[in-house]
Amino acid sequence: MPSTSSTFTKVLNNSAFCTLAADLQSTLRPFRAAGEKVVFVPTMGAFHAGHQSLINAARGISSQVWVSIFVNPTQFNKPSDLAAYPRQLDADCRLAAEAGAAGVFAPNFQEVYPGLQANTVPEVDYGLLTSALEGQQRPGHFNGVVQVVRRLFELVDPDVAMFGEKDYQQFAVVSELVRREKLSVEIVGVPTVRAADGLALSSRNVRLSEDARRSALRLSEEIKAVACAPNPNLAASQAFVRLSADPLIAPEYLSVVAADTFENWTPELSTAARVLVAAQVGGVRLIDNIAVRPA
Ligand code: PAF
Repeated sequence: MPSTSSTFTKVLNNSAFCTLAADLQSTLRPFRAAGEKVVFVPTMGAFHAGHQSLINAARGISSQVWVSIFVNPTQFNKPSDLAAYPRQLDADCRLAAEAGAAGVFAPNFQEVYPGLQANTVPEVDYGLLTSALEGQQRPGHFNGVVQVVRRLFELVDPDVAMFGEKDYQQFAVVSELVRREKLSVEIVGVPTVRAADGLALSSRNVRLSEDARRSALRLSEEIKAVACAPNPNLAASQAFVRLSADPLIAPEYLSVVAADTFENWTPELSTAARVLVAAQVGGVRLIDNIAVRPA
């Protein structure tokens, strides 16, 4: 079993585990020299089938799929949320190996933020991409996401990086980071994995009570209805009101935005639209989104 004190070990199926970027880079050297792409799956652990689908999609690109596990404190705007975040490193390493990852990179805080880097989280302003919706509800969240993703890209130096579309705004923000800073990594979005009844998989779902789990299902039902409605904006405001009427749901937003800029979508815009929702459900914060079907 891996332990955080070892810098390099092998776990199941010859899958590797390391905590230092220098070890990761020396492992990758022969593969890079042979022309193999390094595909990176950044995560905060607590794996579920959604993470496995990221690894599966990555395996379709290269055999050198590396998963990072690092619970990044700078992207949590509430200390209680950081404290409640599930941590299960050994189980995650087994799941990553079973899903076919070449290895897990689990750096410690010092490796990611040497010196006092974490005390200063640089401000990121990508317009509505960082200020709308999640940017408004979770002030500073995208500053931390951009800080850690930029740093993980430095440590891993991937050719391709996989991001789940469940965090659609994060996917858009990271794509913008790569575009603005001309980083030489290709960002690939992977569709959301859902339970059989439609609930988007999330590491937070384990915290839902049975009743809250039932109410949570309404989020995916409502955004699906909005995505198919003749007037998605009107449907979104009606759906928000319906969600608010559920005693277990406190919706934060339910909006239709242009998928590339996050400006409020109107039928005159020729860009693709996305409907996104965030809500507290039985005290657990959930998000979901879906593409609006082209008219
Ligand atoms: O989506 C996540 O799990 C995190 O935001 C990420 C991209 C790993 C950065 O900490």
